[in-house]
Amino acid sequence: MPTSHILVTGGAGFIGSHTCVALTAAGYTPIVLDSFSNSDVRVLDRIERISGQRPLLVQGDVRDGALLSRVFEQHAVAGVIHFAGLKAVGDSVADPLQYYDVNVGGTVILARAMAAAQVKTLIFSSSATVYGEPERSPIPEEAPYAAASPYGRTKRMVEEILADLHFADPAWRIARLRYFNPVGAHESGLIGEHPNGKPNNLMPFVSQVAVGLRERLTIHGGDYPTPDGTGVRDYVHVMDLAEGHVAALRHVMAHPGLLTLNLGTGIGGSVLDVVRAFERVSGKTIARDVGPRRSGDVPAYWADVTQAKATLGWEAKRDIEQMCADSWRWQQGNPKGYEG
Ligand code: NAD
Ligand code: WQD
Repeated sequence: MPTSHILVTGGAGFIGSHTCVALTAAGYTPIVLDSFSNSDVRVLDRIERISGQRPLLVQGDVRDGALLSRVFEQHAVAGVIHFAGLKAVGDSVADPLQYYDVNVGGTVILARAMAAAQVKTLIFSSSATVYGEPERSPIPEEAPYAAASPYGRTKRMVEEILADLHFADPAWRIARLRYFNPVGAHESGLIGEHPNGKPNNLMPFVSQVAVGLRERLTIHGGDYPTPDGTGVRDYVHVMDLAEGHVAALRHVMAHPGLLTLNLGTGIGGSVLDVVRAFERVSGKTIARDVGPRRSGDVPAYWADVTQAKATLGWEAKRDIEQMCADSWRWQQGNPKGYEG
């Protein structure tokens, strides 16, 4: 039986590459469209090693409407998972136009090309950042928008654009997936996250300290009103997220509509919880200091995941130790990312 082709924009990136593995395992054929502005073409060799199948590749920019039209002409695309975008909160403050151009403009151009090709199934990468500093946790999907950065506002704007699109043409099948804090790596250790330069995010920083690339972690604030004083987040394994995309895709393929779901574990973990779990699984000591709070950080938040479970039958299966163990395997085997 021929398999369905799924266009995966940003499919060479951190979450996209893992989703290609999950899509192939579920019997789909991913077509990766990526500019490689924040990824490495060699990830495709790794995906092939894991999956036994190489995703098709289209190198280019998601804002290139003519390129998108050609992809839809050449392949019978059954749906699109749209990861391509920029994600650094600080950069979005410094260069908001670039973020609105790529994240908002890119989605509009993609949706136009999809509409012209009569491909109306779209899974969009949104973020818990649309909630800003929520009134309470766990955060339900109905919580108000309160994005606090240009990056967060690009996610909110795209969510609203997609709602308008669905209102105008209910034949669209759209899922807006709000990820909490994606971490970890594929259990093979062959694909994972490789930030350029000094990592901003906790898990890559901790892994780089463990492997000896960085001397010590600075914990951004030890005086939050949380059980141990450090910030609390909902860390979710990237393979659980990847499987959540497959579940969402299957759901919207069977049910036209507009779906908005949190993807997290529903469990809040502190910075020290992550550090200690990493120490247990790696046997390394993570040297650390407690510094001042990081500007813009929310003290604590985690997801209400009841809707994802009820709608998709999906829930995160992997715990914080597995997230750390898989990050550690990837980091140890690939200290220079895909260069090694
Ligand atoms: P990533 O940077 O690893 O992946 C994004 C991919 O998109 C990269 O391969 C990059 O080369 C590509 N890309 C960027 N601009 C492009 C363009 N104009 N045209 C074509 N390709 C382009 O990031 P990720 O962590 O995998 O995130 C994927 C998506 O999920 C993003 O939209 C991000 O905003 C969203 N998200 C990420 C997180 C997170 O913490 N990682 C949390 C919530 C939401
Ligand atoms: C986690 C915790 C830090 C680094 C970001 C984006 C968000 C979403 C996910 C895309 C916090 C603490 C961190 C360090 C530390 N991305 N920390 N020392 O900020 O929750 O979310 O990624 O949508 O939009 O903002 O993730 O990993 O940076 O921080 O103590 O060196 O770790 O203060 O409590 P964050 P993070």
